[in-house]
Amino acid sequence: MYKNTIHRRQFPAEFKWGVATSSFQIEGAHQADGKGKSIWDTFCEDPKNIADQSNGDIACDHYHLWPQDVDMIASLGVNAYRFSMSWPRVQPDGEGEWNEAGFKFYENLMTALKSRGVELHLTLNHWDLPQALQDKGGWANRAICEKFVRFATEVARRFSHLVDSICTHNEPWVVAILGHEHGIFAPGIKSRAVAMMATHYLLLSHGMALKAMREMGIQTPLGIVLNLSPIYPASTDPADVAKAHLDDGLNLRWYMDPLIRGFYPEDVIAHLGSDMPEVQAGDMAMIHQKLDFIGVNYYTRNFSSTGNPWDVKSTGNEVTDMGWEVYPQGLTELLCRLHKDYELPDVMITENGAAFKDVLMDGVVDDASRVKYFHDHIAATQDAMAQGVPVIGYFAWSLMDNFEWASGYEKRFGLVYVDYTTQKRTLKNSALWYQKFLGGN
Ligand code: FCB
Repeated sequence: MYKNTIHRRQFPAEFKWGVATSSFQIEGAHQADGKGKSIWDTFCEDPKNIADQSNGDIACDHYHLWPQDVDMIASLGVNAYRFSMSWPRVQPDGEGEWNEAGFKFYENLMTALKSRGVELHLTLNHWDLPQALQDKGGWANRAICEKFVRFATEVARRFSHLVDSICTHNEPWVVAILGHEHGIFAPGIKSRAVAMMATHYLLLSHGMALKAMREMGIQTPLGIVLNLSPIYPASTDPADVAKAHLDDGLNLRWYMDPLIRGFYPEDVIAHLGSDMPEVQAGDMAMIHQKLDFIGVNYYTRNFSSTGNPWDVKSTGNEVTDMGWEVYPQGLTELLCRLHKDYELPDVMITENGAAFKDVLMDGVVDDASRVKYFHDHIAATQDAMAQGVPVIGYFAWSLMDNFEWASGYEKRFGLVYVDYTTQKRTLKNSALWYQKFLGGN
């Protein structure tokens, strides 16, 4: 059992306390009202790609159940909600016609949440790229940058008065590397050279979108969300130490350096050799736009080894259903390291959470491990703030159980349990804990 050591009043009054979701993982309604196909719709068609052979056709049916989900969000007592807009729902082909019905869905959702006093933190790309753009090369084709700018500026034109922040991309490392190098996420490509091109165009399109939105006079805070972890060498062997440094370069510095300092890290460029993407004159300055915030998604720490793969059980710490070590101190270490190495803008913890084997019994989900996880990571955030890291918000992943990408519905990350046959939502004990922490009803 954990001992409660944290209180909301220890944080600034305006601190953002939220829950997070993403469009493909919860909305369902994959063909409703003119929505186009996304690369994740396509990826799910191959039964080898998803652990339980499922797809996002229905997911949490949030597209239809959003009014009750808005009530549920408000009942938690959060003051902020992080969500994403499905590009193919509002522009089926990723270029050309806008789909008014798609925009209407988001407008209704946002208006309802706003009227309940909940801030809106919108992500433009949480992975569900229009398939029509993938057919033209997707994130590995430089031409996508202009299309993303048109999407971003149209969304900003329509909704900047409603939203409290706009994030361009969620976790470009995952999109590029898991999607284009390892091929275990959509679009399922296996080429390091293609993956590195995708990293460059994701970053470039981010910069171009920020510039364009600012030129429109958009005052809404603009930023990007990265998945970051501290990476340690698995041993004191110099080969492991070197590997950890390189992995940190590929995972963290490859994104932080260009975004905050305007260049790619030299050691990683040298390592990539012929897989280095083509960088045109002006690209680095374009990527290097002023950020109003940076979102950090933190789940666990990592170890690098040149020998046997590091065994997660060797630390004796709890391991989640994803096989990820529970290591809250890693969040403090990560945030303090970022603060030391970079001129940071405001930081939001845009995702943090854990999957466990939840059991619903007599209307109760006793997810004590998740309660402890949230408690300890919020305390770790507080430790980093005490050391001067400018953290302005914390979002629990996730509002409710949902489609966990290649793991399908087998991994449950929600504060709220979802029975997928009835779509009934049940607040887990972790939701009740968060509600109590936040002082809600
Ligand atoms: C992150 C994703 C999010 C969710 C969590 C568990 O990488 O951004 O959609 O799947 O992992």
